[in-house]
Amino acid sequence: MNITKAVIPVAGKGTRFLPATKEVSKEMIPIINKPMIHYAVMEAVESGIEEVLFVTSSGKEAIENYFDRNFELEHFLEERGKEDLLKQIQEIGSKIEVCSVRQKEQLGLGHAIAHAESFTGSEPFAVILGDDLVLAKKPVTAQLMEISSKFGKSVIGVMEVPKSDTDKYGIVDGTFLEGNKTLKMQKMVEKPKPNVAPTNLATPGRYILTNEIFDCLREIPRGVGGEYQLTDAINMLAGKDDVYAHIFEGDRFDTGSINGYLNATVEFALRDPELKEVMVNIIKEKIVRYSI
Ligand code: UTP
Repeated sequence: MNITKAVIPVAGKGTRFLPATKEVSKEMIPIINKPMIHYAVMEAVESGIEEVLFVTSSGKEAIENYFDRNFELEHFLEERGKEDLLKQIQEIGSKIEVCSVRQKEQLGLGHAIAHAESFTGSEPFAVILGDDLVLAKKPVTAQLMEISSKFGKSVIGVMEVPKSDTDKYGIVDGTFLEGNKTLKMQKMVEKPKPNVAPTNLATPGRYILTNEIFDCLREIPRGVGGEYQLTDAINMLAGKDDVYAHIFEGDRFDTGSINGYLNATVEFALRDPELKEVMVNIIKEKIVRYSI
């Protein structure tokens, strides 16, 4: 299966980041000097994706603008001989085609993905949640594409979490295939309590879906929170066709939460050769100052 399209839903309200998200889209909040959405789109680019669809809502125009050209700024940087910065602001937009569709009412992730049907046509596609960042040697979407190509089916990205945390995630149940990294999925359970969770394999927001998902999205009723849940549609798909789950390699950050955002900021700085020392010194100084 050749996958060239990705869907990135960004229509959510981002309530965990209020009041910032009253006016600024969560995906535009930066980690160091790049907005979260930059990392999600880079993952798509590095996985060989050629076209991205943003499912947006009102007030999210900055996301599309970020991947468009800004001639005034380009001219300004050119005149001042700031070639490096010029290259940086042009680069990502030149690597991928982006388009968008509006989700007029925020009726859930499943509802958002349903808006991608005319974009994907009959092709399988990747879904990347922009507020779940994964640092990995091989981009996590590329890892899932490999499994999807092997079986010609949908693949859900999963990661192991402490058993005590299962009630924060969708949890996958299934049978391991050889190699113990890939499972044939039986079902997904939304946020089960640790004592009833079938596994500790959580679904943080990376999927390869075949276009049969759209029939399922049409059939599912509203689920948890009165929203159309992607989990419910995937469960329905698993009842009709083979669906796989794959334990991806990489470090995942829930940058849609304050804790995950702080964690990612420190980690990204420590992984940056120019910022590593700065960050280490800041942390050391704080430890001394506050006698931690
Ligand atoms: P979240 O559950 O993180 O919701 O959505 P949210 O609104 O972004 O953030 P909080 O929880 O209120 O802080 C997961 C992903 O699904 C998208 C969001 O933009 C996010 O990328 N989403 C969610 C939609 O596009 N539409 C929806 O109706 C719901």
